Amino acid sequence: MKTYSVKELLSEVNVPQDVTLKGWVRTFRANRFIALNDGSTINNIQCVVDFENTDEEVLKKITTSAAVEIQGSLVASQGKGQNVEIQVKNIVVLGESNPEEYPIQPKKHSLEFLRQNAHLRVRTNTFSAVMRVRSALSFAVHQYFQQNGFNYVNTPIITGSDAEGAGEMFRVSALDAENPPKTEDGKVDFEEDFFGKETNLTVSGQLEAETYAMALGKVYTFGPTFRAENSNTTRHLAEFWMIEPEVAFMDLDGNMDLAEDFIKHVLGYIKENCKDDLEFLEKRLLDEEKSKPQKDRSPMPLREKIDFIVENNFKRVSYTEAIDILKDSKPNKKKQFDYIIEEWGADLQSEHERFLVEKHFKCPVILFDYPAKIKAFYMRLNDDGKTVRAMDILFPGIGEIVGGAQREERYDVLVEKMKAMGIDEKELWWYLDLRKYGTAVHSGFGLGFERLVLFATGMTNIRDVIPFPRTPQNAEF
Ligand code: 4AD
Ligand code: MG
Repeated sequence: MKTYSVKELLSEVNVPQDVTLKGWVRTFRANRFIALNDGSTINNIQCVVDFENTDEEVLKKITTSAAVEIQGSLVASQGKGQNVEIQVKNIVVLGESNPEEYPIQPKKHSLEFLRQNAHLRVRTNTFSAVMRVRSALSFAVHQYFQQNGFNYVNTPIITGSDAEGAGEMFRVSALDAENPPKTEDGKVDFEEDFFGKETNLTVSGQLEAETYAMALGKVYTFGPTFRAENSNTTRHLAEFWMIEPEVAFMDLDGNMDLAEDFIKHVLGYIKENCKDDLEFLEKRLLDEEKSKPQKDRSPMPLREKIDFIVENNFKRVSYTEAIDILKDSKPNKKKQFDYIIEEWGADLQSEHERFLVEKHFKCPVILFDYPAKIKAFYMRLNDDGKTVRAMDILFPGIGEIVGGAQREERYDVLVEKMKAMGIDEKELWWYLDLRKYGTAVHSGFGLGFERLVLFATGMTNIRDVIPFPRTPQNAEF
């Protein structure tokens, strides 16, 4: 007999009366009512056990998180809150779960506690909803690019280069850590290492994606990236997933259009396809907000926030305009910014970004044409000689969600910049080759997938939107 998912059963579409279902017990009340969940939806299906005709030994084993198989009839429900329920004819406990030991009780646990049980937390409503939305978002990412003529490229995880030139890399080595081979001057001899050179986990697939854009035209990556930055914040992970489109013959304006259209597509997709999960997450967020002082509460419910992004144009502002705005502003009547921007050229802090997005423009903001010296070496230099065709997209509650640029396609200018920034030309000979053979204007961006999931789910800590977060001092699972 076909096993039906709870989602199928609750939809009542093409479902016979007698069915088999399998899942995990969320709660078991009055020796009679099982709330059963199988992960297909946030909703449980109520299964009513005929306890008088069920073996007592079996009844004892129906505990929270036990895995069960049920045969029964789908009938109209007597109770409130659900249309249908299952009248259990036969129940088999497939896997017991000792209630004395099982750590996740059917009550509210702190997110911190659940992080320490990352292998079990997806059994809660909150995490199952977040992870289903995450999955739907990744589908929408591929859908968008595939529908728009992009090719998916898999860039290497182990690389010999530092794409961002920021030096925040995890080394990959097969050398004996205790006793590595040394060169004559006593340094570790990486020529003896597995790849014959120093290698690391990639911080971005961009440089390799550029090589593919210069032949396939429109490409994107979607894969894990790694940063050894010691930022213990609610927005940073040491291992995160990045989406990086790269397009030949596209300038920065095209890049902004692409990023905006892409973000609207993926958020629009979950709005249509994750209704139950978003409704649940919105309620969860409202409960959470109630415990905060009025002034710190988010003014917009989750689904309205998503609608707002989908329906409004992003504001495009140059770095220079932004600095002028910030110089003339106070975040509130009494207080200055903690970090006051005195002069043109300084990098914006997150308090400035949040001010621009949340207080000043009150919509997503695309900042562009940043000072060259605070951005990566590969960005195209403007005619003013001091700004580059960079863009960052800032989101309410998140800050930077996208970083991108038009790339420097002129060989001489690129070499000059690499020299000035201390980047070894020899290491990136293949990247420079692109500027020698059929170079062209091209652009791309990187979107941090977890920051997108954070926004879409209303969660507030990035550790809660990836199954097994990697952060400083934390790789337990
Ligand atoms: O701004 P970033 O460093 O840009 C790049 O890596 C470019 N190579 C992208 C490109 O043009 N192809 O990173 C891009 C995005 C950020 O805007 C942010 O959303 C996310 O990646 N990000 C992180 N997300 C989580 N944890 C971290 N430690 C992150 N660092 C960056
Ligand atoms: Mg950035």
